[in-house]
Amino acid sequence: MEKKRIIVAVDGPAGSGKSSVSREAAVALNLKYIDSGAIYRAITWFLIKEYGTVPQGKGFSGDLAGLRISQVFKKDGFCNTYVGDTDVSLEIRNETIAKNIGKVSDDPGVREYVNGLLRSWARDNSIIMDGRDIGTVVFPDADLKVYLDASVDVRAERRYNEYLESGKNVDLNSIKKQIIQRDIEDTSRPFGALKTAEDAVVIDTSLLSKEDVIRTLVDLIAPL
Ligand code: CDP
Repeated sequence: MEKKRIIVAVDGPAGSGKSSVSREAAVALNLKYIDSGAIYRAITWFLIKEYGTVPQGKGFSGDLAGLRISQVFKKDGFCNTYVGDTDVSLEIRNETIAKNIGKVSDDPGVREYVNGLLRSWARDNSIIMDGRDIGTVVFPDADLKVYLDASVDVRAERRYNEYLESGKNVDLNSIKKQIIQRDIEDTSRPFGALKTAEDAVVIDTSLLSKEDVIRTLVDLIAPL
């Protein structure tokens, strides 16, 4: 019998640990991990390259015509993100992108473009996809929806450590302010806002180790 395609949606705010636990659960279960936030980040990177900054109050649909964005999945679960032939995986993880991304992900035309791309990538694969609106908008019929949360302080500290580990010099207080600002943007956008799907399993990860969360996720997915 052919194996059924499984779609797992993992949503939650910035720094809730979605991407690392989704990636590792995907490796453990031989599923593909798709990072939807990286697409919004890649579009933001592209617009900054084109305009020097992300213009306020402009629709970006026109800029997306002919844009080629792809993710290459690797055995270790990581997926590299490309704009055309340029690997932007590292460059999209910086504060300038984080500060400007709200203007991009507020644009309904951009969201429609990204959602089409994400659905096409999932067509032939069993996947774990993380983001903000995966269980509510992109895959409302997902086999499993998980909402990961954590306190602002815990999320700020996680993000701070990530930046430090990648050799970036950052200030914890400014990271915390950014997280609060991102939460406001993420929960208030008219389309694709961050919210908990009614049928999501909600996990508060504030007091859990990464391994605990991965194990919980694997235990939820394995019987599907
Ligand atoms: O890693 P982190 O949680 O900080 O963010 P991300 O998953 O890389 O997403 C970055 C930003 O992309 C979010 O703050 C949203 O503005 C946007 N995004 C979105 O609008 N919808 C998604 N499904 C994923 C990301």
